[in-house]
Amino acid sequence: MGYQNLLVTREASVGIIMFNRPKVLNALNRATMVELSAAVDELDCDEGVRSVVVTGAGDKAFVAGADISELRAIADAVQGAEFAAWGQRILFKIENSSKPVIAAINGYALGGGCELAMACDIRMAADTAKLGQPEINLGIIPGYGGTQRLPRLVGKGRAKWLILTGDMITAQEALRIGLVDFVVPADELMDAAKELARKIAGKAPLAVSWAKRSINVGTETDLVAACAYEASQFGLACGTEDRLEGTTAFLEKRPPQFKGK
Ligand code: COA
Repeated sequence: MGYQNLLVTREASVGIIMFNRPKVLNALNRATMVELSAAVDELDCDEGVRSVVVTGAGDKAFVAGADISELRAIADAVQGAEFAAWGQRILFKIENSSKPVIAAINGYALGGGCELAMACDIRMAADTAKLGQPEINLGIIPGYGGTQRLPRLVGKGRAKWLILTGDMITAQEALRIGLVDFVVPADELMDAAKELARKIAGKAPLAVSWAKRSINVGTETDLVAACAYEASQFGLACGTEDRLEGTTAFLEKRPPQFKGK
């Protein structure tokens, strides 16, 4: 599809989704969310794409949240609940995508932007980035999964601190509490994110996908059931040509040639 609010590109086996409304700090209006949903589907179905980087246009913002003029226009409680559930479904698409998704946080990641980053698999931030859940300052609460993914990443106390104060934190602080996984100099961010994406793209794609799924499913269930699930995904990986190729290549002391079969 043609995108108005996103730039969707490919660099070899890495798909790139860039939010492209820099005048409003890449705020997520409905049209952008519809496009995001389509872009995730598009890249998920593209066999040539093995990993994805999500970032924001400009040097100021990753995504500065849901579009506040649209939040202002929500008519009532039911519309508000539907708005949140709809956005959550789109972020679940990222989390459940068969491809690993890396958030390259190039600036403000606030509200829905922070929630979007948390739905990604790995978060890499520029040293200039700022993160937070400032919804409380608007008289609302996070609605795209923030009250759930944030405590899972940083613990309940720190999540409550961030959500109840609306405070923004630096990339370094986000690294310290586990909200992001890497911090790099701003001018190196995209290269570093793409390098990481390329590295993962070179692995056996089915194993990558099932490892991601095993972590996602397993960390939301009890350990015994989670390990049983892991065993089933391990079994799937054992049924692939790539398992034979990977183990044979090791024994023959050569690099593996994975095919995603
Ligand atoms: N929704 C809609 N518009 C937004 C926006 C959002 N979430 N965030 C920023 N913008 C717009 C501003 O209204 C402004 O538009 P204008 O130039 O027409 O006035 C433009 O983006 C630039 O933002 P501005 O506030 O002037 O930049 P700043 O550098 O002074 O401040 C922020 C940057 C991120 C601190 C500030 O924009 C902000 O607090 N944004 C809202 C963050 C938020 O509450 N997000 C959660 C929403 S649930």
